[in-house]
Amino acid sequence: MTVVVFGSINMDLVVQVPRLPVAGETLPGHTFFTAPGGKGANQAVAAARLGAPTYMIGRVGGDVFGMTLRDQLRADGVDVSNVVVDGAAPSGVALIQVDAAAQNTIVVVAGANGTHDAGSLQQLNAALDTARVLLLQLEIPLEMVVAAARAAHERGVTTILDPAPARSLPPELYRFVDILTPNQSEAAALTGVAVKDATGAAQAAHMLRDRGVARVVVKLGEHGAYWATESAEAAVPAIAVDAVDTVAAGDAFNGGLAAALVAEQPWVEALRWAMAAGALATTKRGAQPALPYRDEVMKLLR
Ligand code: RIB
Repeated sequence: MTVVVFGSINMDLVVQVPRLPVAGETLPGHTFFTAPGGKGANQAVAAARLGAPTYMIGRVGGDVFGMTLRDQLRADGVDVSNVVVDGAAPSGVALIQVDAAAQNTIVVVAGANGTHDAGSLQQLNAALDTARVLLLQLEIPLEMVVAAARAAHERGVTTILDPAPARSLPPELYRFVDILTPNQSEAAALTGVAVKDATGAAQAAHMLRDRGVARVVVKLGEHGAYWATESAEAAVPAIAVDAVDTVAAGDAFNGGLAAALVAEQPWVEALRWAMAAGALATTKRGAQPALPYRDEVMKLLR
């Protein structure tokens, strides 16, 4: 059984800064690098590095970024036969600032990620034939996300939605999603609850479950996570690591969760696996360069 990812593929343009600038301020940065990213592609690479057969449905532009991004996905073992080059659009890019405390700001320009259409859904439907898990995020057109979740729901494929970047969701989408994984700010944006700790996370998780999602995991960064399912709920502590850059930590979590579910790990163990993947992703710089391999996760969990 496979993981299918329908989502964004970006080139990340990253600067390290001593602190995040305020509006109107010019600030000297001290390092610049480019690295493959995009929430969809990051989750695909995370799942593949952790051992899951992984298929990506995505679009890149007919530019030098596009070729590099597709080659990198292939090099990581992701099946890219459904990654289309849209010669009329630029590749998606993300402008990222990371400060000395490992916090970041990200501005995304969708480019080819914004041109998905019925052809993408045809590709998705074919890929769902062998899928156990579908991973979705919100960096492609929202109507595509809804249609994909509906298709997976009708076929009994477990859908994990990362509601990032935060935006309000159509009510019907909640019913098609099996596992929703907001971070603190996304959970707050979706529910209006101030999610500052496990109590707020629990309240938000209950509200999201009431909208029709079977399982909710609120990612709380250095404070761990709070999950709620049909029959149980609990807070999970974070795994302590030396964080230098939190970009793609959430993507590592979702890719890790998908890989664990494909490997038929029980829910609580799958969550530990995902937490470990997310923690390890913060110990290196960049998005895909920081995503961990299976042996690293196993070592951290031992
Ligand atoms: O989640 C991190 C990702 O968000 C980055 O790789 C960037 O491309 C944006 O999509």
